[in-house]
Amino acid sequence: MTHQRPRKAVIPAAGLGTRFLPATKAQPKGMLTLIDKPALQYVVEEAVRVGLRDIVMVVSPGAEVLGAHFGRNLDLERALEAVGKHADVATVRAIAELADIELVVQHEPLGLGHAVSMARAAVGDEPFAVLLGDDLYRPDSTVLSSMLEAHETHQKSVVALREVPTADARLYGIAAVSELDGNLVRIDNIIEKPPPGTEPSNLAAVGRYVFTPAIFEALDRIEPGAGGELQLTDAIHLVLAGEGALGWTFTRDRYDAGNKVDFLRATVELALGREDLGDDFRRVLYEIVDRERGATKESPAL
Ligand code: G1P
Repeated sequence: MTHQRPRKAVIPAAGLGTRFLPATKAQPKGMLTLIDKPALQYVVEEAVRVGLRDIVMVVSPGAEVLGAHFGRNLDLERALEAVGKHADVATVRAIAELADIELVVQHEPLGLGHAVSMARAAVGDEPFAVLLGDDLYRPDSTVLSSMLEAHETHQKSVVALREVPTADARLYGIAAVSELDGNLVRIDNIIEKPPPGTEPSNLAAVGRYVFTPAIFEALDRIEPGAGGELQLTDAIHLVLAGEGALGWTFTRDRYDAGNKVDFLRATVELALGREDLGDDFRRVLYEIVDRERGATKESPAL
């Protein structure tokens, strides 16, 4: 097999987003906004930062708005030009030039494994990355670039792994691992959403993967698993018996955008990191914290 560096990223973005209803009643959850950008734009920008400009986005039927967001809007550009808003024109045009995005419609919500297998024709027989839209990483995160390096060195699939509280293990793919080299581990076992008490560890797969094409053959062989869905984790489990797979362990800079509190944390931290907003917003946060502390002191119940 020729050694290849991944060029393509698959972004499964077809979930219903029921945890954010009613905001997701009439728009895909990937369009939920943190500050002034939809969540999925952060994910696309992350892929582009590590050189993955060919993107396959797997979407639900009716998610044309995603295509519109990542394409040109000539009417808007003209209207902005007409009133001299050149910086805004540049902003909206830059999104269309960010990456080459192909939308693939997943007509039935059969699971994450099914969503990734739908990208097979577009990816071909090449290694590729998968970035889940629900997992957001800080713009300065080095997780994906480290995973690509590990893939290049070892020519195996690599899964991003992070410790979660044991009580949350039932929400994730959970891996049992052996130490290899620093953050890099060998995955010995991986189970999707283990029932409480059966988790092999508290190392969770957190939405970033680099795969060899072997994953597609494994996806062809899996049966419905946790929740009756075709699970990507079950395909990784099959790969363990063949080529094997690695884990990249890390501790920081990732948010669960499917969880309301973590979505708020992501919004706050991203705002603090923004050059145009950080200082003003930090002052507001201090004011809020001071006020809340005062309220806590005065509260007779506490
Ligand atoms: C999916 C995957 C799971 C992974 C998680 C990360 O689950 O199936 O293995 O740990 O994403 O966020 P979901 O959150 O879609 O239930």
